Amino acid sequence: MKIAVTGASGILGTDIVKALKNQGWEVLEFNSKNIVLEDLADVRQRLSPFRPDIVIHSAAMTNVDLCEDDRDAAVKTNVIGTHNMALVAAEVGARMVYISSCGVYGNGKTEPYNELDATHPLNFHHFTKLAGEQRVIDHHHRYLILRTGWLFGGDVTQRKNFVEARRREATTASVLKSAGDKFGSPTYTVDLARQLVFLLQQEVYGLFNAVNSGGASRYDYVAEILNLLQLKTPLEKVDSNAFPRRANMPDNEVLDNMYLRLRGFDQMRDWRAALADYITTNYA
Ligand SMILES: NC(=O)c1ccc[n+]([C@@H]2O[C@H](COP(=O)([O-])OP(=O)(O)OC[C@H]3O[C@@H](n4cnc5c(N)ncnc54)[C@H](OP(=O)(O)O)[C@@H]3O)[C@@H](O)[C@H]2O)c1
Repeated sequence: MKIAVTGASGILGTDIVKALKNQGWEVLEFNSKNIVLEDLADVRQRLSPFRPDIVIHSAAMTNVDLCEDDRDAAVKTNVIGTHNMALVAAEVGARMVYISSCGVYGNGKTEPYNELDATHPLNFHHFTKLAGEQRVIDHHHRYLILRTGWLFGGDVTQRKNFVEARRREATTASVLKSAGDKFGSPTYTVDLARQLVFLLQQEVYGLFNAVNSGGASRYDYVAEILNLLQLKTPLEKVDSNAFPRRANMPDNEVLDNMYLRLRGFDQMRDWRAALADYITTNYA
């Protein structure tokens, strides 16, 4: 099997590439240095000669606040880039995987969101992720869209490593503060990559929520990180207003993997077990 992966240097992409190679599959890796996503000719030229069986599009402009500041750049990468990936995947006869976001649901529910819930993105980043989904659906028939969120994983040098960022904060600050009024589904990149490989093996298509189970507030999540790292720095539960942001963020991003569960495909364990696994593997 030959698989092209965008976003291969990101925290999720790194673990997707590892999981694919573990299967003995041939992987062609892309990051911002070797593909221009918004340029259809470039995407075509990079992908077509490889003749991939599957295209996994994990690249995105992921800085949510920056997407508010530079909307053109967000559209170029997240919407036009995804449009181009879907077009070229269809042209070369490859299956298409698109990584989307829990944030597309926006606000409206206090319970976990399932795939039947309406989408109401609250910020520009989430608008572009939803628009990306629609481009995939419009231009491809054999697609797999995974809505995920609150990812942790990667190595300590990766900019977006949430666990490492909290560890550093806890070793330098006298007190940590975390929001008790924002909820999500912390999700381990290794688990998501494993779930994706399983779905590829089953040749499953469609749109699925894909997160580790059991929701948490940001405060619960950080408390568990400190607990597992055995760091004693006090953690204060605060209102999210203590962290002003340019992007409007949903209060509840907890997902229910309803379709994975009901179709018998859900392999995602509880986030606390996944986090313990990550910390044991990387900090023991
Ligand atoms: N992290 C989360 O909590 C979260 C939540 C919901 C959904 N997601 C989705 O999951 C996917 C992976 O996220 P992540 O956290 O792994 O991302 P990440 O660590 O920020 O990595 C982003 C990846 O995309 C590449 N990229 C960005 N802009 C690009 C461009 N214009 N052209 C080509 N490549 C570009 C980056 O390449 P360089 O390294 O060269 O910059 C990098 O490989 C994304 O689609 C994201 O929307 C993530």
